[in-house]
Amino acid sequence: MAITKRTFDVVVVGAGGAGMRAALALSEAGLKVAVLSKVFPTRSHTVAAQGGIAASLGNVNEDNWLWHMYDTVKGSDYLGDQDAIEYMCRNAPEVVYELEHFGMPFDRLDSGKIYQRPFGGHMQDFGKTPVPRACAAADRTGHALLHTLYQQNVKANTNFFVEWMALDLIRDQDGDVLGVVAMEIETSEVMILQARATLFATGGAGRIFSASTNAYINTGDGLGMAARAGIPLEDMEFFQFHPTGVHGAGVLITEGVRGEGGYLVNKEGERFMPRYAPNAKDLASRDVVSRAMATEIKEGRGCGPNGDHVLLKLDHLGDEVIRHRLPGIRDIALKFAHVDPSKAPIPVVPTAHYMMGGIPTNYRGQVVAPQGTAPDVVVQGFYAVGECACVSVHGANRLGCNSLLDLIVFGRAAARQIIEDLKNNPHPKALPTDAADKPLARLARLENQKNGERVADVGDAMRKTMQTHCGVFRFPDLLAEGVQQIREVAERVRHTEITDKSKVFNTARVEALELDNLIEVAQATMTAAEARKESRGAHAREDFQERDDKNWLKHSLYYSEGHRLDYKPVRLKPLTVETFPLKARVY
Ligand code: FUM
Repeated sequence: MAITKRTFDVVVVGAGGAGMRAALALSEAGLKVAVLSKVFPTRSHTVAAQGGIAASLGNVNEDNWLWHMYDTVKGSDYLGDQDAIEYMCRNAPEVVYELEHFGMPFDRLDSGKIYQRPFGGHMQDFGKTPVPRACAAADRTGHALLHTLYQQNVKANTNFFVEWMALDLIRDQDGDVLGVVAMEIETSEVMILQARATLFATGGAGRIFSASTNAYINTGDGLGMAARAGIPLEDMEFFQFHPTGVHGAGVLITEGVRGEGGYLVNKEGERFMPRYAPNAKDLASRDVVSRAMATEIKEGRGCGPNGDHVLLKLDHLGDEVIRHRLPGIRDIALKFAHVDPSKAPIPVVPTAHYMMGGIPTNYRGQVVAPQGTAPDVVVQGFYAVGECACVSVHGANRLGCNSLLDLIVFGRAAARQIIEDLKNNPHPKALPTDAADKPLARLARLENQKNGERVADVGDAMRKTMQTHCGVFRFPDLLAEGVQQIREVAERVRHTEITDKSKVFNTARVEALELDNLIEVAQATMTAAEARKESRGAHAREDFQERDDKNWLKHSLYYSEGHRLDYKPVRLKPLTVETFPLKARVY
């Protein structure tokens, strides 16, 4: 079958904050850039980010990038790579000012400077007191960011392939990446996009869980493609549960609510966080707050008829502050929880939110994979940024507002690296003759499958397994059963059928293709979680409750083929400053 081929300097897959920041720098450098997106770019999941971007601007109280670095290393439970963390925190003020100059409409202080609010785990003076570090546009920071970057990309002549889904990476016999095979969602047209550099910015995979703050598009597409192409996935056992998803709906209620002075209460009306984190209280890091909430519920102090949630109280902030600083939260509370937050508390529960693991990269956005005894060999032509990548700046637990920062810092860094790399690589390599064979075979399998199961049913089984077996607290028997069950679900995925071909806009085919990616992520997460015999950050085991630096201060690498696990060392050495030594982590 003849397939159309188009050639670009760079193909970027994903049009969220990371993809668009990279694309902007690449297009401005005069490169021919294609950005593929399953949805219209400004509907990418970055649009849902609420609370802010972390940067030590010091606009409200004194701040320092080294304090930010310390908080991030500590927040990561010491699993973060300190070279990448230094790079991110040092560059944070500059990338935020760049956004300001691109026209991003930040909220302002009376002084005219960018408004900043406190966020969990962000402290002054190496962990002493909370500091306002989140640069915010009300509670719609991601929305403001994404629209700003889209407009700049239009100005820079970036080529957008809107409602296109990348199906698979193209790798040649040397292991080099030469582009992607993609499908136009509306027509099912398949195309090869050949490129001298391929950058994945495909976002997260929160949809492996039943209760998630993530958009339906967050299906781990980049990770699925990387895993199928033989690239390992790093630290997949670390999945963050955001403390405040609306009970029953999963929609995110920003940590910015607690940053503005809101707090959590149990059924006795007790503000319980001081018992768990006497210093930071409700502004402790997310893993700590989520575990505290789960413990309150488990020990019978949960609210509601089923005692299955706690309450987020913010009525004391007053209607004016809520309308001005948290207008989106007010809307969400009214629509999804049916409460007016200026009068009544919002029912909340920890909800799957963010994947700390991903495609292994260095701080320049280059994908790295072990070769022989070398842990970090660059995969030529392949780059990854944002939530789909594991740099690793978040380690075992991400601090709020470091995700938007990660997108912008490493989106720009990867673009700079690509610009350099392409100077030495002026011509595209020849494509292998079988470049599109595997994705075409997957499409043909879906088309021809008879008497298969419905994609929705198999997807539900996967989500239920992940939710039950791999949650906030993890139990040895549940994890072992979970590994078994998720493998069985993976087998069922291979026999799904598109039962509703008449569905408009080809959604059935897309959901089937997305499930191929989700199941790779789910298997990686469950397998790596079962294997890690310690508690660290978001990975809290009932049978191994302590962090074990002697045996487990290392990154996991999961290979799809054979479900094999390997490990590599944490990079403890920063770029220019002293290593932050390991300490007990208390807030
Ligand atoms: O709570 C929030 O606004 C989420 C921010 C984040 O995940 O960084």
